[in-house]
Amino acid sequence: MAFHTPPEVLLRSVIRTLRSSSAQNFVKQECAGRRFYRAAVCTKIGDPLQVQDVPLPDKVPDGKVLIAGHAAGINFADILTVQGKYQVRPRTPFVPGAELAGRVADFGAGVEGFKKGDRVISIPGGMNAFGEFCLVDAHMVFPAPDTLTLVECAGAIISYATAMLALSRTAQLKEGETVLITAAAGATGLAAADIARNVFRAQVIGVCGGADKCALLRERGVQHTIDYHTEEIRDRVKKITDGNGVDVVMDQVGGNIFTDCLKSVAFEGRVVTVGYASGDIPKVPVNQVLLKSCSIRGVWWGNYATRNPQVFIQSITDVLAAFSQGKLRPHIGRTFSLEEVNAAFDFILNRQSTGKVVLKMRDE
Ligand SMILES: NC(=O)c1ccc[n+]([C@@H]2O[C@H](COP(=O)([O-])OP(=O)(O)OC[C@H]3O[C@@H](n4cnc5c(N)ncnc54)[C@H](OP(=O)(O)O)[C@@H]3O)[C@@H](O)[C@H]2O)c1
Repeated sequence: MAFHTPPEVLLRSVIRTLRSSSAQNFVKQECAGRRFYRAAVCTKIGDPLQVQDVPLPDKVPDGKVLIAGHAAGINFADILTVQGKYQVRPRTPFVPGAELAGRVADFGAGVEGFKKGDRVISIPGGMNAFGEFCLVDAHMVFPAPDTLTLVECAGAIISYATAMLALSRTAQLKEGETVLITAAAGATGLAAADIARNVFRAQVIGVCGGADKCALLRERGVQHTIDYHTEEIRDRVKKITDGNGVDVVMDQVGGNIFTDCLKSVAFEGRVVTVGYASGDIPKVPVNQVLLKSCSIRGVWWGNYATRNPQVFIQSITDVLAAFSQGKLRPHIGRTFSLEEVNAAFDFILNRQSTGKVVLKMRDE
């Protein structure tokens, strides 16, 4: 199996440590001197994930941290990756999962600032989070905010940092402006609504499918909701904004919804394209851009890790600071066990989820 750390390299030093620490219970199985943990493995693109035993690394490499994962957030991109529909196409077998929270089990030489048992939150470079252990570059490990449970932490980085980057740098949202957010009850949408309301003090119009999702948005402090199953986005935006349109659009859905939002933007408004949950990449009527003197910009948060690491890390530290100050709080719609990972994917694909869906590997 093509894991980042070769399976034949075993974790003797970690095992010695684990035996003498409260982390002892983290290691699930021993077989002929080898130690294994459970992980959800993609063995063939398009097939259901298989929960299998995966060998622990023998030694934690220099600059790396071994995290005993308590919970991992599921992102739409994980599902697309397993289906072979994402812009990044890893070779099988691989363990998906791009964010987790847990405790430091061990670390390699050169790692400073952590001790065993620390509560941490991490993004392990796009995969490997859906397992009971995860080996991560130390610079991608952050102290978990005390204000959040580890389950909440598991859903705290990708959606929130994406939304922070999209609203601050890309859209240049300002206090008092109005922002229209689509799939607003989803993970990224709800994060954007939280940040727009509680960091930028903006007016939020949340667009989503269904009365229950609209009710959740209002509970979370969203001032206006539009149920796109029963209401016309353009008509409702006109009424809410006295015909002016919204200053900013943040769209996660694509297709006709994107076009309706584009037509709902104000003079010199800013439209940010973040995702295509509908599976439909919209064709833009550019005359609308001319007529409104508006701009359309895209954002791919993960790409900033290599293209502009400073901005990338800043988006993370900004949201972690806001969590620690109690300004923001992720909504965890539902948790599933690791064994239920395929059911969790279906739950998201069937549009039943709200906020973040999290896999729970062990209790805090
Ligand atoms: N650019 C970036 O850096 C970045 C970062 C994170 C996420 N994204 C993208 O943003 C989008 C949303 O991600 P998320 O994590 O917020 O997902 P999510 O929590 O699963 O929310 C997706 C929502 O999209 C709506 N939707 C509309 N049409 C759909 C369809 N045909 N199938 C499924 N859902 C549909 C559903 O809400 P309703 O029922 O309310 O319509 C659904 O709940 C994805 O495309 C993801 O790849 C991009």
